[in-house]
Amino acid sequence: MDTQNANKYHEKVAVIGLGYVGLPLLCHFAETYPTCGFDIDKSRIRQLKNSEDAKDCVSKSLLRRLENVELTSDWNELKNYSVLIVAAPTPVDKDNIPDIQALKEICDNIGHIISKGTSVVFESTVAPGTTEEVCIPILEEESGLKVNIDFFVGYSPERINVGDSQHSINTVPKILAASNADTLLHLTSLYERGLGCQIVPAPSIKVAEAAKLYENVQRDVLIALANQYSEYCNVEGIDIQEVTECASTKWNFAKVHPGLVGGHCIGVDPYYLLARSSSKGLQLPLVTVARNINERVVKKVAENIVKRLADIVKGDLPTMKILILGFSYKADCKDIRNTKVSDVITELEKHFKQVDCFDPYVDADKAFNEYGITVKTEMFSIDDYDAVVELVPHKCFNGINKTISINELL
Ligand SMILES: NC(=O)c1ccc[n+]([C@@H]2O[C@H](COP(=O)([O-])OP(=O)(O)OC[C@H]3O[C@@H](n4cnc5c(N)ncnc54)[C@H](O)[C@@H]3O)[C@@H](O)[C@H]2O)c1
Repeated sequence: MDTQNANKYHEKVAVIGLGYVGLPLLCHFAETYPTCGFDIDKSRIRQLKNSEDAKDCVSKSLLRRLENVELTSDWNELKNYSVLIVAAPTPVDKDNIPDIQALKEICDNIGHIISKGTSVVFESTVAPGTTEEVCIPILEEESGLKVNIDFFVGYSPERINVGDSQHSINTVPKILAASNADTLLHLTSLYERGLGCQIVPAPSIKVAEAAKLYENVQRDVLIALANQYSEYCNVEGIDIQEVTECASTKWNFAKVHPGLVGGHCIGVDPYYLLARSSSKGLQLPLVTVARNINERVVKKVAENIVKRLADIVKGDLPTMKILILGFSYKADCKDIRNTKVSDVITELEKHFKQVDCFDPYVDADKAFNEYGITVKTEMFSIDDYDAVVELVPHKCFNGINKTISINELL
């Protein structure tokens, strides 16, 4: 091993924000570097210290790597770490306005602890320009240090897909950009060793930020097309799934299915792009229309449930008790961020006497606190219900007799 590489092995890596992105990063880096995990949420830190991960962000074997990792909610404990990786949440507010408050707060706190030679890498999905126009100025202001002279900055957007073991953090190529060429070389080596994945160098931080948004905006637009094409197939009396299977035998057809678009990425990131482009005086009507089409699926699904049940279930709709299967934003995962099932339930409550929801994966307290919806998580008899509607096709629902499934409602 040459001296340069030996030095890199002695680098100390801290990951800030230990959620779906930060925790896998921490567990992988922990294999190669002395590491520290920071989260503002003290209960999350307590949980991780007990080797528990309520969000199921990593496998049990990865979680065991935390045994040798420092875990803290005290910023001062990060002072000796030479690389700080930031995986802050970047949601939208109730009006779909991007909210980067957590990212700004983290920059503010990091500004007080970085010293000469520190590298700060941002992993959060943000509007192009955010790292250079928002994050770096805060770091410089709070630290009194200068970027590319005293400290260095990288940006590496995350591509993990929660619940997808095929496309994991160490198998998918990872984009990386930096504030200068030397930092890009340094961070490339650090990430290659830490994650073991292929690193794709981007020519600038802004290009890397824009690439990440493009990936998710493209999916949103394609899903909107699938949702609209599904309506067209319905009027023709043909099945969108069958049409998609046929079409996807062509080499350049993107296989995308219609559906409710919830979660923290695809239904959120286009708003970051739209806010940014509009601040530059440019409207992006295709992106806006796609977003609206995907948001409208909630009403379509609720209306179709009402119509179908009026046809197939004998009885008076307002007296019916309905059971919804699934609450998380997608199948076989427990993440309820921005789940559209909540909105469908709200719509259905206008039509039926009782609308209950069953999802054994989700945290019922969290669902109640965030959405005011009581989600049953333990098995119980479904005989009492007039209809069972599966909105999220978890594998564990396979043996349950359903009145309607999501594919029939799109
Ligand atoms: N989840 C995914 O699959 C995924 C995929 C690609 C990109 N992303 C992006 O990665 C970023 C992180 O997403 P996530 O899903 O890991 O979010 P998350 O909500 O799961 O985790 C964020 C963590 O940051 C902590 N946090 C919040 N404010 C903080 C603060 N001020 N200081 C320190 N810690 C703080 C929270 O307690 C939480 O544990 C977002 O920008 C998201 O868009 C997520």
